[in-house]
Amino acid sequence: MLYQILNSFLKQTDPETAHEYAIKFLKQDIIPFDFFKFTADPSLKIKVFGVDFDNPIGLAAGFDKNAEVYNSIFKLGFGFSEVGTITPEPQNGNPKPRVFRLNADQAIINSLGFPNDGMNKVYERIKNNPKKSILGINIGPNKENATKEDDYLRCIEKFYPLADYITINISSPNTPNLRNLHDKKKILDLINILQKFKNNFKEKKAIIFKLSPNLNNSEINDLSEIFLEKKIDGIVLTNTTIEGKELLEDENKNKEGGLSGYPLNQVSNQIIKKFYINFKKTIPIIGVGGVSDGVTAYEKIKCGASLLQLYTAMVFKGPYVASKINKELSNLIKKDGLKNISEAIGVNTN
Ligand SMILES: Cc1cc2nc3c(=O)[nH]c(=O)nc-3n(C[C@H](O)[C@H](O)[C@H](O)COP(=O)(O)O)c2cc1C
Repeated sequence: MLYQILNSFLKQTDPETAHEYAIKFLKQDIIPFDFFKFTADPSLKIKVFGVDFDNPIGLAAGFDKNAEVYNSIFKLGFGFSEVGTITPEPQNGNPKPRVFRLNADQAIINSLGFPNDGMNKVYERIKNNPKKSILGINIGPNKENATKEDDYLRCIEKFYPLADYITINISSPNTPNLRNLHDKKKILDLINILQKFKNNFKEKKAIIFKLSPNLNNSEINDLSEIFLEKKIDGIVLTNTTIEGKELLEDENKNKEGGLSGYPLNQVSNQIIKKFYINFKKTIPIIGVGGVSDGVTAYEKIKCGASLLQLYTAMVFKGPYVASKINKELSNLIKKDGLKNISEAIGVNTN
């Protein structure tokens, strides 16, 4: 009820302002989350890249860009939260307006361009607010350094000790040239640098790569070969898409930026399937793109995802979307006679 009232107000507000209100609200930590606190069914527990997750539904990068509300997010039923994208230096991002709701398509187009407080401020924030569950930290370069490895190295040096896993974002469409890092030679160089960095540490944390959905089959095969050869820890599939906007209905469909939500769902599922088949169960995948209920969550797992994330469904369905999906998901796997969610991974790729 509280959310319905809040939501009808937020829906009339510019989406970026609505998001700022949501962060402010979650920061207050005054809503009776503890009363509603959700415990997922044990059938949803899963271990991925050495980390134990209570449930497979995570909050995708971009919502908690500056790591302000992750402990409130955990109370909403998310099994993990990925903060960021964080860059070495603070930056403002692209000019506003840069976030558009596409109500007719259950989608969002954004061209934010990594506005964030910068790594030093975010580091202090996380250090002073110990995480109460699994925290991923998503890092990227400042706009002017988009294709250089140095910015990733600066950020990972800062955040490696604080994170449960680190996501290397090479796939935002809103930082010019960033997606060039999908090139074979460039990604190989980047992986080598990051693995060399990781070798200095006794405690190993997963370093995973977040990819674009706008890849053709030969690019998918080339990347798979490199990832297998370098034995990387995992990938996140996918970031927002810049293709397919002509098929949308909403009047905002031609806005500049990356598209997320319902129209991305099948696109990301097809990419997940292809990587899953290439990986032969050796590299885990976090599936993201249009997850909005138990059915879409289950489908992505059957396509090969071990964990899931969402962002856009939280905007359209509200803060309890994760606990609702978890309940629906555990019912679905029970109906299929499975004891644990891991038994469903990739079953639709045979
Ligand atoms: C407003 C907005 C901002 C985003 N910012 C980031 C970001 O900073 N870093 C990132 O890796 N992904 C970012 N994303 C992409 C999401 O993490 C996710 O990959 C994408 O939205 C698909 O999931 P969804 O359909 O559940 O929203 C952003 C998405 C939205 C809608």
